[in-house]
Formats: sequence, structure tokens, C-alpha cells
Amino acid sequence: MSETTTSTEGRTFSPPEQITAQANVGPDVYDEASRDRLAFWAKAAERLHWEQPWDEVLDWSNPPFAKWFVGGKLNVAYNCVDRHVEAGHGEQVAYHWEGEPGDTRTITYAQLKDDVSRAANALLELGVQAGDRVAIYMPMIPETVIAMLACARIGAVHMVVFGGFSPDALASRITDAGAQVVITADGGYRRGAPSALKPNVDEALTRTEGVRSVLVVRRTEQDVEWTEGRDVWWHDLVDRQSPEHTPEAFDAEHPLYIMYTSGTTAKPKGILHTTGGYLTQVAYTHWATFDLKPDTDVYWTAADVGWVTGHSYIVYGPLANRATSVMYEGTPETPHRGRWFELIQKYGVTVLYTAPTVIRTFMKWGEDIPAGFDLTTLRLLGSVGEPINPEAWLWYHEHIGGGRCPIVDTWWQTETGAHMITPLPGVTSLVPGSAQHPFPGISAKVVDDEGNELGDDSTGLLVLTEPWPSMLRTIWGDDDRYVDTYWSRFGKNVYFAGDGAKKDADGNIWLLGRVDDVMNVSGHRISTTEVESSLVGHPTVAEAAVVGASDPTTGQGIVAFVILRGTAEDSGDELVQTLRNHVARDIGPIAKPRQIMVVQELPKTRSGKIMRRLLRDIAENRELGDVTTLTDSSVMELIKEKLPATPSED
Ligand code: PRX
Repeated sequence: MSETTTSTEGRTFSPPEQITAQANVGPDVYDEASRDRLAFWAKAAERLHWEQPWDEVLDWSNPPFAKWFVGGKLNVAYNCVDRHVEAGHGEQVAYHWEGEPGDTRTITYAQLKDDVSRAANALLELGVQAGDRVAIYMPMIPETVIAMLACARIGAVHMVVFGGFSPDALASRITDAGAQVVITADGGYRRGAPSALKPNVDEALTRTEGVRSVLVVRRTEQDVEWTEGRDVWWHDLVDRQSPEHTPEAFDAEHPLYIMYTSGTTAKPKGILHTTGGYLTQVAYTHWATFDLKPDTDVYWTAADVGWVTGHSYIVYGPLANRATSVMYEGTPETPHRGRWFELIQKYGVTVLYTAPTVIRTFMKWGEDIPAGFDLTTLRLLGSVGEPINPEAWLWYHEHIGGGRCPIVDTWWQTETGAHMITPLPGVTSLVPGSAQHPFPGISAKVVDDEGNELGDDSTGLLVLTEPWPSMLRTIWGDDDRYVDTYWSRFGKNVYFAGDGAKKDADGNIWLLGRVDDVMNVSGHRISTTEVESSLVGHPTVAEAAVVGASDPTTGQGIVAFVILRGTAEDSGDELVQTLRNHVARDIGPIAKPRQIMVVQELPKTRSGKIMRRLLRDIAENRELGDVTTLTDSSVMELIKEKLPATPSED
């Protein structure tokens, strides 16, 4: 693709002709959507199979509680699997799955239909009913997808917990969601070794009540403890079930899943997604943003199913569009740093979707690695999870995309369910580093602190001013927190995303990161309070303050400042390691602080509020900003004296 103009922000790239000529959506789509937004989404919904049509596209009579496709009924699993088999595509591959050790499984749509039906029958045998919550704590194996679809098929609400989360995190989510069944595995492969999951479930279940069954997939063949009457092997229960199951149609607003995400307090929020609107928008955006061609593309979202990206763009979007996908169990450096490129070459991947943190890691490893593989099948690249810096964008474009693939930088959130701001590959002239324009049918604006819309060339807060089909419906069990968190700052009709944003002189939107106490580490959300409350949970810590400091690879790194209890000894490195491991055990390895500094005091305002801004200045090695509101400005000098020369890394 050619570099065409120079904007104030830098270079722009016009869409390549061969993409534009055959793109699923052209420039008219913006006009069409702005002429009649609801008609546009209704047309997108018609791409699905509805057992009963809806009476009304949107009921927004009680904001911020939306109902989309009111009165309509559909089955998500039928839409993702059965209808493609019925249309004669049973032999098409749904997933090329590759295990980290190199074992492979090829799963066609026909096989997926049988497997999902068997798993649905198994859940019914376990007494799971529509509306019940099922926790899924799994590695990246096909059974994870099968389990999710089996839940959807019978109307059970799945609640996937990322396999890297701790027993505590799992237990609190199980309690909050009221899950009665857990689906897990003995373990999965990560970084060249089996990593156990079942012991974490066993431990979690000592801290929560109400789980009556644990369904266990055998993956790594590690030894597992067994609780008779509660634990059951997947191969014992699921394999003997009938591959026939008649899907029931559920209301468009029937709950589909809960996904926990960090907010500004220590307690994660259970984001609730429902059936019809969610599937409509994930399917449509997957088709439009990635220009997905079901007959020829080999699509790969290189993310974990344990995050919303996996839900929307490994499972529901691709399957609803009859995509052939790649699914990979392990890490990019196992057994060598070219593993991803080897997979692209092996399966002929045409569309790759991943996070900037991975791209920056590849940059660090060097361009020789991708250069050693045939990546010429790639035609489109995507980015998600955090702002992609122009340097990483250009590297991705050149060294992975061979200079010919458009990059779609997609801004969205667990809460939004699907893409909200993104270029369209056949339409948009790309500006590296900017997510650019609201998706058709989406109304995103940049406003000032009072909620006034800002024009081009200004910086403010990102808001969404119209409801959208795949929006969260509430926070599980906490409608008030839903209203307070997202719909109170600018009133009940305006969704406050929590991100800062800038509009450039050409009207492109640039995302500037979180404006609240949420950190973004390698594209994963972690709240500062969550880490602080873990630290003060350790017997040696009296007080803790945590900030996200910018990090060249992970976007942000977690930096903690702790004051020890009077009796605790500062044993230097050893204590710091103990505390880092404590947080990793408590929350999960992704929350392990990059750096912990033991200090005597924390900088506080006269009203007792910790001044994170100053701590961030320290963590980022900057000159200190204004210290005049501190109770005691010498505190900062004391902290600076204690700074270690280099941050710890592992
Ligand atoms: O800050 C934004 C950032 O990730 C947050 C959402 O995180 P999560 O719910 O975990 O979902 C991640 C995957 C959708 C947002 O509030 N974010 C996500 N995508 C982008 C982004 N920031 C800038 N550019 C993006 N493309």
C-alpha cells in the first residue's frame, strides 16, 4: 500500500486497491448508518438467524438500561454452528488448533456441532438450567470454546476466568456470579511446561460455597486431587452423550455471559452481555472491520479466550461469520521466538489480530525473526487493547505486513462488547497511532470536563452518546454501580468510557489511556486499588500506593510504594520479592508489580489523598510536578533517595 500524504500527525496510508475493490463494506456505510442508525443495526441483525423476529429495534425508555431487538428470539450456538452445517459447510474448518507442544487438532463445523451438542447434553445431565451461571477456567483448548457454546446453547450464562488468575480471584468471581458448576482442565501448556489449573480450582472451592460439580478436561495428564461426587472427567461424562441436541431460542435480552473486569475499586465488576444485540455487533464488526471472507480467509485472533477479545473475536464473531480460525494454546516464544510466524506460514493466515505489547516485544527480538518466514498470505492486520505507538504501527506494517496490509487499530472495551472506534480497511486512509473514526452506527465524542463536545484539534474525555447493540446491560447484581460508574458523570444518556482522547485537526480520534485509577498492562486492565489492597493484605505492609508508569514494552508497568509496619524489617530485595510474589499469588501473575519501593512516607495532600501524580513522576523518572499542596514536601526527597537503580524484571 502506498504512503500518500503527510498530515500534521505524520504519515497516512491509503487503502490498497485490491482490498477496496472487494471490501465487504465501502464508504457508503457511514452515510447509511447516520441516515438511520436503528435501521442500520436492524440490517446487521438480519445477518443472523432469528427464530422469532423482534418487534422493536431499541427500547431506551429507561436509560441507561437498554433493550435491543425487543421480543426477538434466537439461539447463539445455532447461529455460530448449526446454521453453517445446515447450509452445507459442515466440512469447513472452524478451528486449526495448535497446542504449545506442537500437537494439533482440526475441527470442522460439523464436528463442532456434535461436540457442542454433547457438551450441552452433559451440562443438562449435571442439572444446569437456562439462566444458571457456569464458571469456565481453562487453558486455550477447543473444549473451552465448546464449553462456552454449550452454555449458550442451553441458555446458561458462562463466566470465563482467565487461566492466569489466582484461586482467590477465581473464588471471588464464582461467589459474585453465584456459579454452581465449574469447567476446568488438569492444566495447559505455557512456556514449554504444563501449568496446573485444577489445584487452583480445588483451592478456590475451599473459599466459596455453592459449586456442586467440577467438570475436568484432561489435557496435560498431571496428577489431580479428586473430590468424589463433585468432580467428573469431561471424557467420562461428555463423550458418552448424544451428538443430537435441539437448540431452544432465547429472548434477545437473555444473559449470554459475565466477564469480570477491573474498575476503580478493589472489587472487579461483572460485566453482563446479552444475546441478540451482542451477537449482532460482534458478527457485523468482525465482518466489516476485518473484511472477513469466509471462503478464503484464515483468521487469527492471537489472544486468550479468557478476555473479552477472545470472547468476541475468537469465538462469537468468527463463528457467526463462518470463519476458519487459528487457535494457539501457548506463548509466542515457545519453543522459539518465531513460533507465531511459523503458525502464520503453516496455516496460511490472512488476517492477524493482536495487541501492541506483543508487537513491541517482537520489535525487541528483531526483524530478522519474522523475515525468516513466509508471511505473504497476510492481507490485513489488527491491533487492540491499548494505544499502538506510531513506531510499533510502522514496524508491524513493514515487518509483519510486508508493507501491503492495512492495520485496523480497534478501540473498544469489555463493556462495549465489540469494536467502537476503528478504521475500515477498504475505506479509511490510515493514520498510524490513531483509532480514527467511530464505527458506523456508533456515536463517540470527545468532551470537556463539563460534557461539552469539543471540536477538532482538542483533548478531552471519550464518551459514547447513543446506546449500541453489544453494550453491557449492567454490572452483575449491582445496577447502582452500573449507573454510577458509567452513566452518572454526564447524565444517564452518556456513557463515560474512562479514557482520555484527542481529536486531531482532521477529526481523527487518538486514545490517550485511562483517566481513572485503572492501569493497562500488556493490554490487561488492573486497578491500582486492587493491587494496593493485596499489598496491605500482607502482614508486613502498613500502607501502599500503586501507580501505572509508562513502560516501553507493556504500555504501563505496575509500580508500588509501600510503608512497612512498625515491626517489619526492611530486608531489602528479599522483602520486595516476597511482596511481588504475594500480589502475583493473590491476583495473578499479570498483576505482579514491576517495581516495589519501600518508603517511610507517602506524598499526601492536606486532605489525606495520596498524590499519585507525584509518584508517577518518580516512577517515570521525571522532574517532580507541583508539590505545593503536599503536607510535607520533604517527603518526596526521602522517597527519591530510596530509589533503586533498575527495575526488576520477570
Ligand atoms: O483504555 C482503553 C484500552 O483498553 C481499555 C479496555 O480494556 P478491556 O476492557 O480490558 O478491553 C481490552 C480489549 C478490548 C480501554 O478503555 N484500549 C483498548 N483498545 C484500545 C485501547 N486504547 C487505545 N487504543 C485501542 N485500540
